[in-house]
Amino acid sequence: MNERQSQIDAAVSFLSKQGIPNTSLGIILGTGLGALATALKVEKSISYSEIPNFPEATVESHEGKLLYGFLAGQSVLVCQGRFHRYEAYSYFQITFPVRVLQALGVHSLLLSNAAGAINLSFEKAGLMLLSDHLFLQGGSPLAEAGVAELGPRFVDMSQPYDPSWRQQFADLAKSLHIPLYQGVYAAVVGPQLETAAEYRYLKTIGADAVGMSTVPEVIVARQLEMKVLACAVLTDVCDPDNLAPIDIPDIFEQAKKGELRLLELLQNWLQSKRHYELS
Ligand code: HPA
Repeated sequence: MNERQSQIDAAVSFLSKQGIPNTSLGIILGTGLGALATALKVEKSISYSEIPNFPEATVESHEGKLLYGFLAGQSVLVCQGRFHRYEAYSYFQITFPVRVLQALGVHSLLLSNAAGAINLSFEKAGLMLLSDHLFLQGGSPLAEAGVAELGPRFVDMSQPYDPSWRQQFADLAKSLHIPLYQGVYAAVVGPQLETAAEYRYLKTIGADAVGMSTVPEVIVARQLEMKVLACAVLTDVCDPDNLAPIDIPDIFEQAKKGELRLLELLQNWLQSKRHYELS
């Protein structure tokens, strides 16, 4: 058997033995975005370090736990903590949780991240649904050994972010008076922030926000034909003509503020879908 597949199978069989049931909805939480997990009625919590073949989260603000529980009455698998290219992981490692979630029944995937706003009409602590992306990390999670056998090779990317879900979120945000933007997310490696010239460049090529994650997972989720919705919490506004030095404590503060809005939106959305299969 394909060695990659065996690694996935080992993780999945461990999790099944731990009592993690098949679940259709998965959530991958971004940097500094752990509050959602505190709203979860947790039934099972398993540290990444216990799961065979799971990479270890190295970023301090990331918890590194797989949670099973209920959010707004809906059963959900939550990855609290994700893996980044700047931690020197391979794309297979970065996207391993997505493959494991899929094998546990997940066909609907929500992702959050913290991002800098390139579009200067966006505000700090605002939310931006990803309508599209620019993948600027080099290589591809579908171009590593053994990965072509895990799904189709030439994966369609014409609509990676489900349009009907985006519309539902936009309508809901309006009714809840939560400002919600939509735009193009540029994924860079990091971990250094951008120079003024780089922000200018990102704007020129069509980015509305920039961050260091999410797109590898989305590419794999699409290979696995999952429905995807991703939301950026805008932690800073990147004006190349007035570029202030990075303020990390402020970034975390804005992430916290924005995340509460995202949580409210998500809970209301799940509530509205409560009696339906997520489709
Ligand atoms: N650049 C890249 N990643 C980020 C930023 C940024 O300005 N802000 C938050 N994450």
